[in-house]
Amino acid sequence: MSLPSLPATLPLEAAAVAEMAAIAAAKLAGRGDEKAADQVAVDAMRTALNAMAIDGLIVIGEGERDEAPMLYIGEKVGTGQGPRVDIALDPLEGTTLTAKAMANALAVVAFSPGGGMLHAPDTYMDKIAIGPGYPDGLIDLDASPADNIRALAQAKGCETADITACVLDRPRHADIIASIRSVGARVHLITDGDVAGVINTTDPSTGIDIYIGQGGAPEGVLACAALKSVGGQFQGRLVFRNEDEKARARRLGLKDDAFGRKYALNDLVKSDAVFVATGVTKGALLDGVRVENGFVQTHTLIMDSATRTVREIRAKRPLERSPDGGQVR
Ligand code: FBP
Repeated sequence: MSLPSLPATLPLEAAAVAEMAAIAAAKLAGRGDEKAADQVAVDAMRTALNAMAIDGLIVIGEGERDEAPMLYIGEKVGTGQGPRVDIALDPLEGTTLTAKAMANALAVVAFSPGGGMLHAPDTYMDKIAIGPGYPDGLIDLDASPADNIRALAQAKGCETADITACVLDRPRHADIIASIRSVGARVHLITDGDVAGVINTTDPSTGIDIYIGQGGAPEGVLACAALKSVGGQFQGRLVFRNEDEKARARRLGLKDDAFGRKYALNDLVKSDAVFVATGVTKGALLDGVRVENGFVQTHTLIMDSATRTVREIRAKRPLERSPDGGQVR
């Protein structure tokens, strides 16, 4: 599919968008208030997006217009003076992780030329993902987890016991976990945050070889925007629990052939994309926001599929204080 390319300056501007959301959310880390942490991240991300010289359209956001006052699907952001871009975002991926000050919470945003990303409804998606360097078609959502682990072990030239699969710790995954363990592989359970779970498969230092399980469909598209730069394989299938969820999908423009369809990475992210994630709390790939000696420090991953470039940025900003001595930024 031929779509216009994204501006070369976009990756760095996008980094600031995720950084602002992460800094805002991190102030509420460990304070037990998921909603408040999410809200400040949304506010900060929206302000940063609106300062960008883009004609931006939210295609994956905080929800539909009637349920999300800000960064809703269909909201226009940016100055309007600039290229037309689609935006997928999750200002706080891991609201519970943040509220409990647990690892791997991220502020996430991805950009593509208009029409480049699937407008995924806020439903679940069955997902399977591996990192780069394997033959195409190695994993298959329709095969059992055990068979996928066997195929991966063979391609890696190791034993199935040497494979680690990342899975969200949910009762619905009992069969998946049993199937993985039936071939002696390890299951790394996470309480939340499957964008990080999928991205971790791309970096051997995380120890994660494969991601399997059902999580949010929007998070699936965001993870694919990241995988696009480094390679890797992904398959996903939308899961609808009721007619209302199907109606939501139709409102986003999905046709009935989307129901039951097995999507590959390039179906979910058709064009090039820029993916950015800033750590809110420390995780396997990214450090969290830290305040030290009067500075706020952030750690951001920028993945640009057009140039297949992965950058890591550590930024340091002077801490701004309000007149009463409170932390502003
Ligand atoms: P939030 O950021 O909205 O808390 O979502 C976190 C998350 O764990 C995602 O990473 C994942 O895709 C989804 O929730 C799983 O949903 P559920 O908690 O319903 O199993």
